[in-house]
Amino acid sequence: MKIGMSKPLYLAAGALLLGTFAACSGGAEESPAAPAQRGGPAPAPDPVTLAMRPNAQGGEKAYVEKCIMCHGANGMGNGLLARRIDVPDLEERKDLDRNYVIMAARHGIGNMPAIPRGEVSDEQLGQIADYLASGKGPAGGAQ
Ligand code: HEC
Repeated sequence: MKIGMSKPLYLAAGALLLGTFAACSGGAEESPAAPAQRGGPAPAPDPVTLAMRPNAQGGEKAYVEKCIMCHGANGMGNGLLARRIDVPDLEERKDLDRNYVIMAARHGIGNMPAIPRGEVSDEQLGQIADYLASGKGPAGGAQ
């Protein structure tokens, strides 16, 4: 007699496979939100936009438009500043000097590129620097 699976065993294996496929496809269909629950890094926070800051004016508004893509949560600015500064979020800082902000933006600092006048005018940068040096943070306290 040959050695191999007997007929009942074949059937059982087939049933198991079918069951596995059914479980897989069923799971994929019902849970689009599953990746976040499966471990791995937490999803990145939503980028801060003006829509999320309805009260933003002047310097705060310009900051959201020109700087927050790097200086918001998970931004490259916050990430790199966290290596050397306790409070990496510029909007939460109480110790920023107006001229320091302007100097850093115009000349670049460390890994931050210089920001030219074509990108941010002197007037806008002055407003941003006043806003950051005021230490007051966002109007309405959002984010
Ligand atoms: C392309 C990303 C990027 C943009 C846009 C950006 N920054 Fe930065 N910024 C950085 C990075 C990165 C650092 C940290 C530099 C380092 O320490 O190497 C930094 C650091 C700074 C610092 C220094 C803080 C300190 O305590 O030394 C200031 C001030 C600053 N940024 C202001 C601004 C302002 C104002 C704007 C908008 C006009 C702006 N940045 C836009 C990336 C950016």
